[in-house]
Amino acid sequence: MSKLRVGIAGLGTVGRGVAKLFADPGSRLNEKLELVAVCARDARRDRGVNVGRYRWFEDPIALASDPSIDVVVELIGGAVGAAKSAVEAALGRGAHVITANKALIAEHGEALAALAESKGAKLLFEAAVGGGVPMVKALKESVAGSRASSVAGILNGTCNYILTEMEASGRSFEAVLAEAQQLGYAEADPTMDIGGFDAAHKLTILSAIAFGARPDYGHVRIEGIERVSLTDIRLAGKLGYRVKLIAKGALADGAVEMHVRPALLSHDHPLANVSGSLNALVVDAEPAGQLTFIGRGAGEGPTAASVASDLIDLAEGRGGSAFGRPLAQLASAPRATPAERGRYYLRLQVVDKPGVVAAISDRLAHEEISIESFLQMPVQGEAAVPIVLTTQTCARARIEAAVAAIQALGVASEAPFVMPVEHGGGARMGR
Ligand SMILES: NC(=O)c1ccc[n+]([C@@H]2O[C@H](COP(=O)([O-])OP(=O)(O)OC[C@H]3O[C@@H](n4cnc5c(N)ncnc54)[C@H](OP(=O)(O)O)[C@@H]3O)[C@@H](O)[C@H]2O)c1
Repeated sequence: MSKLRVGIAGLGTVGRGVAKLFADPGSRLNEKLELVAVCARDARRDRGVNVGRYRWFEDPIALASDPSIDVVVELIGGAVGAAKSAVEAALGRGAHVITANKALIAEHGEALAALAESKGAKLLFEAAVGGGVPMVKALKESVAGSRASSVAGILNGTCNYILTEMEASGRSFEAVLAEAQQLGYAEADPTMDIGGFDAAHKLTILSAIAFGARPDYGHVRIEGIERVSLTDIRLAGKLGYRVKLIAKGALADGAVEMHVRPALLSHDHPLANVSGSLNALVVDAEPAGQLTFIGRGAGEGPTAASVASDLIDLAEGRGGSAFGRPLAQLASAPRATPAERGRYYLRLQVVDKPGVVAAISDRLAHEEISIESFLQMPVQGEAAVPIVLTTQTCARARIEAAVAAIQALGVASEAPFVMPVEHGGGARMGR
């Protein structure tokens, strides 16, 4: 049987990693596949691997349109532009596509999967989520026999690195971010990572597969880590918690609810000890029970390995539907957001004068919010002092009403900061 001919569009971190795997004579990739073409902008750049033996394209759409290429591996990136046009060109002529592009799949995955289905082509994207950790395949295949009720993950290594370093070194968010940028762990423009958007793209993909619903990026409620301060991390630690950026999707009252936001995790939570740039996913499913996947969430080797596993699936005739089942079988998730309940952490920066704490307690009591713990940081010589409290379980709407009432008191020097508090023990997180 003739080998599947592969073209790689994009020879950056991930693309050159895949080219290196093909260059390894012992790699399983070469058994049923053959790399025949590559594409990048700069033909003279040293990629650390000899790509001179492959046909060179400057235009990814030309590579994707070439009828002699059976599989197009898109490793350019971006939800629009060259990456999207190349993927559309390939699928449009019935060629298979493998991509690591979470933005593209989260924002245009439904239309691209429809195009793939209509042409009998496969669209695979294991590397788009969790780098080297097989999260997509686990949900598409291993968990397929169960009903998933929630997926919760640490899906952005940059945010996890920053939060871990802040806790370990006692340095500020700004200082650790600047260091992460110097070390190449964070982009020069870190908005996609620290703003939670990258994690939201990945959550969109995982939720679609886990819950058999159409991908719906616009429905993710996104909050980044920009407001997490050293005070939050220290006080959370005193209360027995660790701050993490959690991407969580859950089936609630028939609706798929998706959040990306910083949260306090108790030390017995399965994600609490996932540190540095690691990624992890916790799936709650019946009858499988709780499953945890953990590993390196980015980088040349792990991400290229995930691309390679998709290539081998294709060569072996596996891979299935893009989101685990044909589009017609995917539900359109109801958009109504169910009323959220949980425990919450609230940080207030208030003027230091008599009666303020009593007034805050009064506004919380008015919303029938019971306080679980209360900490006040002594700050010498400052006009405003941080007050931190955690609540018993209550409705999120009540917290928001109390926060609005506290702001109306005119004693807070900055907007109150709220994070959910989550405990170990399965699907109770945030609800
Ligand atoms: N890096 C990771 O650890 C990682 C992990 C998971 C997923 N991903 C995803 O994998 C994809 C690739 O990421 P990456 O980090 O490898 O990106 P990268 O290092 O920035 O590489 C991008 C590549 O695309 C090429 N390119 C960009 N625009 C082009 C155009 N218009 N025409 C032709 N070539 C073009 C670049 O060419 P030149 O080299 O000539 O400039 C470069 O080779 C993205 O979707 C990313 O989200 C990355």
